[in-house]
Amino acid sequence: MTGAAAPVIAVDGPSGAGKGTISHLLAEQLGWHFLDSGALYRVVGQACLIEGVSWDDHPAVTAIARHLDVSFESADDGEVLVAYRGEDVSAAIRTEEGGRGASTVAAIPSVREALLARQREFRRPPGLVADGRDMGTVVFADAPLKFFLTASAQERAERRYKQLIAKGEGVSLPRLLEDIRERDERDASRDVSPLVPAEDAIVIDSTATPIAEVFALVMAEVKKRGLG
Ligand code: DC
Repeated sequence: MTGAAAPVIAVDGPSGAGKGTISHLLAEQLGWHFLDSGALYRVVGQACLIEGVSWDDHPAVTAIARHLDVSFESADDGEVLVAYRGEDVSAAIRTEEGGRGASTVAAIPSVREALLARQREFRRPPGLVADGRDMGTVVFADAPLKFFLTASAQERAERRYKQLIAKGEGVSLPRLLEDIRERDERDASRDVSPLVPAEDAIVIDSTATPIAEVFALVMAEVKKRGLG
């Protein structure tokens, strides 16, 4: 079987909409591979900081994306260790600065182009769950099943706030809300691969829906299509 034949379930949407949780659960339940495409953009942003390259220096950022020496390894506790040139950057890429860097470099068309083939390499049998912003519109436009998860900015900011507080990080809710709105605006208004649902995506608003219910909806669709 060739890699191209493997089915893909695309899970797109803005940050904090529950994509990560849902796609992890889905990949685990189906025994499929998992692509966290946001992590790739986050590593590019982090690599720029490490190499002393400004996020606005498009040619230099593109060179970093083309030759990105990144590895993903599952640790025993189920956490994914992300390394850049062998250096563990798992925690650094998840900070608010990491998110800003990712969103900034992700708006550069040549950076997106440079990461296309790398993302498609994750498509292997028995299947792939792909989490991102343009999985269903660009990277895996032929995916047989696409979801677009969303939630209000306020709800997403509150979820992020609770996560950070649980990790012991001091944060301000209004600041998080402002960051989320800024990031949404940047992700949705860029010229290449803007954050929009694919025409054939199933849109799920999780503002008032618990994650377990969202997952049940998602699994019902997976079964309906005979996937997994
Ligand atoms: O999913 P995430 O929050 O880790 O993504 C971080 C940033 O990367 C997000 O603000 C936009 C960008 N991104 C993207 O442009 N395309 C993707 N497929 C995934 C992420």
